[in-house]
Amino acid sequence: MSLVDIDAKIPNNVALAGDRRLQRALEGWQPKFIRWWEELGPSAFKTNPVFLRTAIDVGQEGWANFDHVSMPDYRWGIFLADPEPDRKIAFGDHKGEAVWQEVPGEYRSDLRRLIVVQGDTEPASVEQQRHLSLTAPSLYDMRNLFQVNVEEGRHLWAMVYLLHRYFGRDGRDEADEMLERHSGDTDKPRILGAFNEPTPDWLSFFMFTYFTDRDGKYQLASLRESAFDPLSRTCDFMLKEEAHHMFVGASGVGRVVERTAELMREHDTADVHPHGGINLEVLQKYVNFHFTVSLDLFGAETSTNAANYFAAGLKGRFQEERRDDDHRLKDDYRLVPDFADGTIGTREVTQLAALNETLREDYIEDCQKGLNRWNRTLVEAGIEFELRLPAASFNRQVGTFRGRSIDPWGRVVSEQEWQANAPDWLPSSTDRAHVESLMVGVSEPGKMAGWVAPPSRGINQKPVDYEYVQV
Ligand SMILES: [Fe+2]
Ligand SMILES: [Fe+2]
Repeated sequence: MSLVDIDAKIPNNVALAGDRRLQRALEGWQPKFIRWWEELGPSAFKTNPVFLRTAIDVGQEGWANFDHVSMPDYRWGIFLADPEPDRKIAFGDHKGEAVWQEVPGEYRSDLRRLIVVQGDTEPASVEQQRHLSLTAPSLYDMRNLFQVNVEEGRHLWAMVYLLHRYFGRDGRDEADEMLERHSGDTDKPRILGAFNEPTPDWLSFFMFTYFTDRDGKYQLASLRESAFDPLSRTCDFMLKEEAHHMFVGASGVGRVVERTAELMREHDTADVHPHGGINLEVLQKYVNFHFTVSLDLFGAETSTNAANYFAAGLKGRFQEERRDDDHRLKDDYRLVPDFADGTIGTREVTQLAALNETLREDYIEDCQKGLNRWNRTLVEAGIEFELRLPAASFNRQVGTFRGRSIDPWGRVVSEQEWQANAPDWLPSSTDRAHVESLMVGVSEPGKMAGWVAPPSRGINQKPVDYEYVQV
């Protein structure tokens, strides 16, 4: 078991006190992080006491502490899951060899790149969500937003630790640049497209935490397989926190569906907009948008980079060790989608080349589970409407379907038809304006905005009407 130094300036379980140079370097980065948080973190209720979870350990039980904290005093720490004794590399050319505790020179730049791309998404989402506290539908929701935000901040810390500890000078430069790129900045944008889109309202926030944080889950789960053991242990612990982010999304969208169903029955109409709700058609369009933007994050169907990362042992598949194959994938083949001559077909490639597509498929299967739950709510309310994931070929900006005119059911249509129907498939300006009009902050304990049902229970056994944020 690793020892936790909880009272240090930077709480950690990596024996920071035993490495003065590293400690000094990270303590030098800390004020830059705080400055960034103050400038680009939450814009309202910045210093109010919030009932937050703070990581304090990595053990099976009791890894977190819940208490009211003012966010600038939040204890962002560095925590790696405990090492697995005698862990062996589970895939690629080095399969069966001992995992690495230091970065092999030949993989240094690839590993740094993987860590930087992952790390960049963490502060990006905080920036994207910074104005949402103004319009939180309840104190419970505001608390959840802040919880997600502080943990994304901690995930940045997790990646910055790896950069400082294992990548010397260029690692420190990369850590600084994490705070210099900003979401939506024209000169220095965040690295990945979806992280430069604004999160303008709470419906978008719930959809983002459901669909886009779930991409994060799949990326972290593949990095957890890494032969570079410190990266693996870091991601393992981050996944614990990530589960709550996806809960916020799944339960958030679920509560909107519930409220819409309630209003539909109460007013005996499918159009609940005059009654302060969000129509199911609009929810479907938000699903279409957030799902497809998130699909792009997995990259093109075939990728030499992904193949190289896998062969080198840097990034595995989701649940690599549970898979029943040779874990080298050079002689196994599969079909990937292929758009050619105006039609959607497939082509055969090695499993190794198709790793992005394989991870995307695992992700799609996982996404469907939430829709099944939301649809159950509709069935129980006696409403004949089914929320669906659109075809993976719809509205794509990356890979073989990039910029193609394909409808949400996966049919190729003309460019004109696509343009004419886009307002029925993706949130239109009218839809966004309606959602926006519902965004009014509610800051009385236990009260909810009218477009969303209350949660079924509170946080950490507290009641729903608990003062989650002291205002
Ligand atoms: Fe994260
Ligand atoms: Fe997250």
